[in-house]
Amino acid sequence: MWIEWQPQFDIGVTRVDEQHRQLVAMLNSLYQIIGPEIEPSAVWQLFGSFNRYADTHFRLEERLAKEYGLDPSKLQQHWAEHESYRLRMRGFARALENNDPHAPVQMMSFLYNWWVGHICGVDRALGRQLGEKGAH
Ligand SMILES: [Fe+2]
Repeated sequence: MWIEWQPQFDIGVTRVDEQHRQLVAMLNSLYQIIGPEIEPSAVWQLFGSFNRYADTHFRLEERLAKEYGLDPSKLQQHWAEHESYRLRMRGFARALENNDPHAPVQMMSFLYNWWVGHICGVDRALGRQLGEKGAH
């Protein structure tokens, strides 16, 4: 699905918001390419720069939380979501390697749901916690 940027996606911390916008733009361009007719073997290559950017992004959030001295006990669920995302993506990488014809579309729909849910959920909470410490 095409993701239209929504005001509730903004978490109020510029560096994070800019990366979220970039991630959504990248997902939208991938969405235009991924369809049932695409070769699974071609997909992982297309996703290479997205995966690398997503990883850089997770590390930025994890670094900001440390820099601003946020309470780690309030971040456990957040980091657990990052970790389960990494696991799911490793699963998709294997499925694509095995040429599973359903994998490209399944992965696209997973990514859509995961990013929208994650940004509107734990990322917004992170934005509030960072905001309380003066980040913007
Ligand atoms: Fe996050």
